[in-house]
Amino acid sequence: MRLLTDLDVDGKRVFVRADLNVPLAGRAITDATRIEATLPTLRWVLEHRGRPVVASHLGRPKGERRPELSLAPVADHLRAALDVPVTLAPDCVGEATEALVAATGPGAVVVLENLRFHPEEEKNDPEFSLWLARLGDVYVDDAFGAAHRAHASTVGMTRHFRAKAAGFLLAREVELLSKLLHAPEKPFVAVLGGAKVSDKIGVIENLLSRVQVFCIGGAMAYTFLAALGKPIGRSRVEQDRIGLAAETLRRADAAGVRILLPLDHLAADAPEAGAATTVVGAEDFPADLLGVDIGPRTAEAYRAEILRARTVLWNGPMGIFEVDAFARGTLAIADALAASSGTTVVGGGDSVAALRRAGKMDAVTHVSTGGGASLEFLEGRELPGLRALDEPATEPLAEEGA
Ligand code: 3PG
Repeated sequence: MRLLTDLDVDGKRVFVRADLNVPLAGRAITDATRIEATLPTLRWVLEHRGRPVVASHLGRPKGERRPELSLAPVADHLRAALDVPVTLAPDCVGEATEALVAATGPGAVVVLENLRFHPEEEKNDPEFSLWLARLGDVYVDDAFGAAHRAHASTVGMTRHFRAKAAGFLLAREVELLSKLLHAPEKPFVAVLGGAKVSDKIGVIENLLSRVQVFCIGGAMAYTFLAALGKPIGRSRVEQDRIGLAAETLRRADAAGVRILLPLDHLAADAPEAGAATTVVGAEDFPADLLGVDIGPRTAEAYRAEILRARTVLWNGPMGIFEVDAFARGTLAIADALAASSGTTVVGGGDSVAALRRAGKMDAVTHVSTGGGASLEFLEGRELPGLRALDEPATEPLAEEGA
């Protein structure tokens, strides 16, 4: 994959597709991780006299102009972080936007308005792609979080560029996640949680030949336990995945891979704050309660596995961690990863949020900015956004960078 540093950006308009899809509370950004993660790319472009034109989606406006999903707060954040003039364009395509980009010289940044205000973005529309492509001389993709989407800004417009490359964030994501798939130091432990087996089954299957131990938590654990005929009370279960879970356990066993399931649980009378809770052993789950977190013995056992490992992947919470009383297991995993001396990679919005809550963001090797994208990557699927960077320019707009 070509890297940003292979491009000549001097004096050029550098179209940077970033994933600045950050959570908002009104106009306030509640987590700026994705913006911060793409700053090295933007700084490099500015230092090399490039003229960044930054594009992103924000939320899911479904092709309509929704003022509450404007990139204005993102542009404000970038202005403060980069300490250069940053202008928000009136739109992401069109004459006024083209004029603004043309009038913006090196040392300043244009942020395009939300790409998804236009339905053509998600439809990967060729004409819209061309309009976007007209805003740049070179194309840089730093949007790992959107690399699983075949949209105009991630795929369609790339056919118009000979000079295209990965930004630093995208390159780092691909490097670290590829290492998990192709050269993980052993033992490799994958800690997987979250509500559904169906969300993680592709990852489990693709990692079966690579991982030595899976530590399973979250509601998906109950589907596995149900497959083993264990009592799980009123815990959430995917009835239609019990067979799949049983089959996965059989295949793991045949491959000599250990799938660890909770030894104990935090059980509650309701899945909400204020519920009465009790720790129960895996064999003694009361019929009238439901599981809301892994129990302390499980957290200890998973911690021991994590500390023994040379490579750890964590994706998905161990319980309903949004409720403080049910967050202990998830926070224990965050702590254990932080204490590991191996390579530790965290993906998925909830695990990253838990890591932040534990104050351990800087204590792991890599925090992936891609939720769906990192899962699809780990499932072994080819991501359209990555593939597009390697494709030749079939309809180049410029002569340069051939
Ligand atoms: C994400 O938040 O996972 C990415 O920004 C992609 O967003 P999407 O799921 O709305 O395409």
